[in-house]
Amino acid sequence: MASIFREGLLTGKVAFVTGGGSGIGQAIAERFAGHGARVTIAGRKQERLDAAAHAMREKGGTVATAAIDVRDYAAVAEALQHTSEEYGPIDIVVCAAAGNFPAPATGMSANGFKSVIDIDLLGTFNTCRAAYEHLRKPGASVLSISAAHATQPIALQSHVCAAKAGVEMLMKTLALEWGPSGVRLNCLTPGPTDDTEGMRRLAPTVEIRDAVERSVPLRRFGTKEELADMALYLSSDAAGYITGGVFACDGGSSLVRSGSLGGAMFPTAVAR
Ligand code: NAP
Ligand code: COA
Repeated sequence: MASIFREGLLTGKVAFVTGGGSGIGQAIAERFAGHGARVTIAGRKQERLDAAAHAMREKGGTVATAAIDVRDYAAVAEALQHTSEEYGPIDIVVCAAAGNFPAPATGMSANGFKSVIDIDLLGTFNTCRAAYEHLRKPGASVLSISAAHATQPIALQSHVCAAKAGVEMLMKTLALEWGPSGVRLNCLTPGPTDDTEGMRRLAPTVEIRDAVERSVPLRRFGTKEELADMALYLSSDAAGYITGGVFACDGGSSLVRSGSLGGAMFPTAVAR
């Protein structure tokens, strides 16, 4: 679907998107590139990044790749340095890299818990911390992709709930610290988003998918394109006075009570 925004909203801008090789991060990077930004997409798998970059270049985008693990500060710093040398000061950072698997705390090793905390929370810190010196100041925007997990406890998701709560608080704290430099930081909270790895992991069966759909006040999954449009707005100068916020694009899911996976995570209390 074409973007609803006027063309070239990000012309001349430079963006760095972690998790930009797939799913929601890829859709956001593609939207940015389509609006004229020069974009670096970062993730661990070079093949995946190449495929995503190829698709964006086919549509006329200017896209570079960085095969890095966001848990590795030096690698993240090097990729950001390279982006700013190649493209100029960085106007937009998106932290979309994340990990998830459903498991009870008793079915998770300390390393399993740590792996998600390290990707989601430490990885977001690493990206923000290393980006700071390369950001255009004033004017830059940092957007982290959060989840309802940040405020709603969800069984089998202790690691993600803890990590995303940390991500939201980190963004708010940095919004205070970096506001005087003219850097904005916000969170975007997707609801259940169709055709994503996240949903393939959390809603793997038709039954769970149906339960999810029934639970969303708008009675459908969100699309990656809807999230990309919201990310475009929040990352653009049009949102120049917006910082420290958490914005949901979730069909109203956040209005529904907390729960657990397996159908009850997205409760079916309201009949279709
Ligand atoms: P996804 O396609 O699996 O996106 C995660 C991305 O992060 C992948 O491109 C992955 O690429 C990258 N990544 C993972 N670990 C990394 C690491 N250590 N270093 C660098 N990159 C790493 O899943 P998605 O569902 O689109 O999720 C994207 C974001 O949306 C996540 O922050 C997720 O929490 C959030 N979210 C999703 C939903 C949903 O319905 N899908 C709902 C709420 C929130 P590599 O494997 O190549 O590294
Ligand atoms: N249940 C319980 N523990 C699990 C698990 C599961 N389903 N999957 C992985 N783990 C544990 C592993 O056993 C390991 O712990 P151990 O060393 O004590 O055995 C730990 O998690 C790390 O696993 P590993 O595969 O080495 O980690 P990784 O850093 O390569 O990958 C993950 C990180 C586990 C989060 C992996 O699922 C991933 O790469 N995810 C990215 C994509 C994704 O999750 N997308 C959805 C985003 S919402």
